[in-house]
Parts: sequence; C-alpha cells; structure tokens
Amino acid sequence: MKQFDVAVIGAGAAGMMCAAEAGKRGRRVVLIDHADKLAEKIRISGGGRCNFTNINAGPANFLSQNPHFCKSALSRYTPQDFLALVKKHRIAHHEKHKGQLFCDVSAEDIIGMLKAECAVGNVHWRMPAKVDSIEPGEDGGFTVYTDTGVVNVQSVVIATGGLSIPKIGATDFGYRIAKQFGLKLVETRPALVPLTFDAQEWAPFVPLAGISLEVDVETGSLKGRNPDGARFREDLLFTHRGLSGPAILQISSFWQPGTPIVINLLPEMDVAQELTAAKQSTKKQLGNVLSQWLPARLADGLLLAHSFNSEARLADMPDAQLRKLGQLLNQWTITPDGSEGYRKAEVTRGGVDTRELSQQTMMANKVPGLYFIGETVDVTGWLGGYNFQWAWASGVAAGQVV
Ligand code: FDA
Repeated sequence: MKQFDVAVIGAGAAGMMCAAEAGKRGRRVVLIDHADKLAEKIRISGGGRCNFTNINAGPANFLSQNPHFCKSALSRYTPQDFLALVKKHRIAHHEKHKGQLFCDVSAEDIIGMLKAECAVGNVHWRMPAKVDSIEPGEDGGFTVYTDTGVVNVQSVVIATGGLSIPKIGATDFGYRIAKQFGLKLVETRPALVPLTFDAQEWAPFVPLAGISLEVDVETGSLKGRNPDGARFREDLLFTHRGLSGPAILQISSFWQPGTPIVINLLPEMDVAQELTAAKQSTKKQLGNVLSQWLPARLADGLLLAHSFNSEARLADMPDAQLRKLGQLLNQWTITPDGSEGYRKAEVTRGGVDTRELSQQTMMANKVPGLYFIGETVDVTGWLGGYNFQWAWASGVAAGQVV
C-alpha cells in the first residue's frame, strides 16, 4: 500500500491546481516544493496583481514545436472556468487591456484561493522539501526521495516550472527528470524578455532610456500559411541596455538570435508621404516637424544616430532624404545581440517535448504514471495572462486522471 496515490512536485500555479483537482476526486495527494515561501511567481506576477488569465486565450496564443498539443487541455478548462472559480472565491478583479484579467487588490488572493482548493481536496504538504531523486518503485509506481524522507506513490506529476528568475527558486529539475526517463527536450531559451544591443551600437540611444510609445514590432516571415514570424502592436520602452515594454517582450519569444526586429515607430502614418506633403507648406526645421508626432527626445536621438541634421529646414531637404527618413521611422530595423536572460525573462520557451506526452492527460507516453504540466512543457504563452491559463488547464487535465 502506497502512502499516497500522487506526488505533485512543485507547488506553483500548475502544481496547486493539479493537486486540488486530484484531491477533490478522492485521490491521496502530497504536494512537495523546495521553496520557503509558497508560489513566489504568482505573488510577483502582473506587478503584484496577477494577470491570472486572458478571456480570449486560445491555441493561437501559444508557441510550441507541436502547436496542436495545447488544444485539448485549453478547450476542456477555459478562461471562463477559471474566472468562475475566482468569482466563487469572491476575488475582486478587472479587465485591463486586450482581455487581460487582474486582481483588484493582490496576487495573494489567487494564492489563497489555490490553497483553499487544496484544503478541500485534503492535499498533504511537504514544504520546504528538496527532492533528491525519483526512481521507479519496486512494485510499480515511484519512490520519491526528499530531504524530509521517502514517499511512495502510484503517480508523479512534475510541475517545477521553467528556468526564469532563478533567485526565487526556478530549477532545471523538470528537464532532468524528463531526461532520466528517456524523454526528449526542446531546446530552452528565455522568452518574454527585454532585448539587448551591442554597447557601442546602442550608445546613441542610451539617453533615450525611459521613453515609451506605442509601436508595431515584427520579426521573421509573416508570409505563407505557416508563418515563423509575428507582429504585435504594443508599447515599447527604451532602456539603458536596449528595448523592453510589452511590444518587445511579446516579440522576444519569436525572435531568433542573429536576426533583426523591425519597428514601426509611427504605425498610423506613412511618414515619407507626410514629410513630402509638409515640405510644401512649412518653414519648420526637421526636428520640430518630427516632434509633432514623436517624443522630441526620441526624434532628436534617432536623427542624430542616423546622421540627419535636425536643424535642416524641411523645405530644403531632397525627396530621397525624406523617403530614407520615412523608411527609418516606419521600418526601423535593428538586430539585438541577445536578451536580459533568465534573470529577467517572464517565462522559458521550450522544455519537455510535447510529442512525448498525451495531449489529453499530460502523461509521458512511454512512462505510465509520470506526468508533466505547466511551464516545464514546451508550451509558451504570449504576454497577457496566457501562461497562467496554460498552467491551470494542464494542471486540471492531469488532475482529472492521476
Ligand atoms: P511555477 O514557476 O509557478 O512553479 C514551479 C514551482 O516548482 C515553484 O514553486 C518552485 O519553487 C518549485 N520547484 C522548482 N524546482 C523545484 C525542485 N527541484 N524541487 C521542488 N520544487 C521545485 N503569467 C501570466 O499568465 N500572467 C502574469 O501576470 C505573469 N506575470 C509574470 C511576472 C513575472 C515577473 C514572471 C517571472 C512570470 C510571470 N508570468 C505570468 C509567468 C507565470 O508566472 C508562469 O508561467 C507560471 O507561474 C508557470 O507555472 P508553473 O506552475 O508551471 O511554474
């Protein structure tokens, strides 16, 4: 007789959701986490207010080498299902932007709700407890060795998340267990992360740190039925080392090292056309004309960096120069030299290869009883509440069957 039916490793978003679901089905569940403080990532998410889902979340909002994998779990546990739970717990919330739902007061409300759901499911806690290893049990199931003792279980759910923000407890544990049991991994890399540029190339833009504006940003090819690129209209933020803000975080997940990103700084305007038209009727200098449309500091910085004279009178500028400037502002093409890395990334792209897992249950096809959920899996959401929705949906998918 096993002590527990199920051990869930990792008491984050996916792990708590899975443990609660399994516990409410009458399964004896133990939830194990090495952190001193529960669910730090939920606590810091959404600027402390947790963007807990996106009411429009669907498979198109996720990246994966196997884009169909997430469909089943997402369709069986929807944003409306999670919202119903939030309402049941009377958590005040609001919609902020493009379907993003946030707590009115604090992310602590979501942590409290998940803890309460685990209590309903009679979930046992081992925390803090470090898992040293997981081995197949002698009579089936698994033996989980922790620094607080050994646990024998029928099933193990790995919910240890990705690599981002190591200082609050992120580890590669999930990937190590996947490898140990012979499962393939998709290469991991930081995603939803600020992008950086060569220090010398970026020097002219350093004084622009703090400037923010709405832009279109794209990368990769947008052509064809299976595009490998993406385009977003969101806010861009200049930083001392490069670019950040929602526009850049979104595009960073798609960006391939060595390739450029293209930014339209004035997406509602054909700049070359407007400049050519304005040339006929204004005596203004170039810098003054541009500062009608862009923050003046940004206009001056860009002109300087690209050797345009901001004091030149627009009327004196050749049309070819205006076309060149138009292209610069509508298609500013720059190649990042990297990103701020896992230290600043909101999520990890890649992870356990979904072709190794059942899309209905999240169980490893060749290791009965071993499940992977949440960010450990190669399913990465856009910015805007999608990653939590995947954590809830994959957690429930496994919780219903373990
Ligand atoms: P999660 O990281 O939540 O949990 C993993 C758990 O496993 C942790 O408790 C950890 O301690 C534990 N663990 C790790 N290794 C272990 C080991 N070896 N042994 C035992 N336990 C171990 N998403 C979103 O949808 N809306 C948002 O607002 C935000 N905001 C946001 C802000 C910031 C700053 C970050 C870093 C991330 C976000 N995210 C987000 C992303 C979101 O937080 C993330 O996708 C989910 O928390 C993933 O849930 P998981 O349960 O898979 O991992």
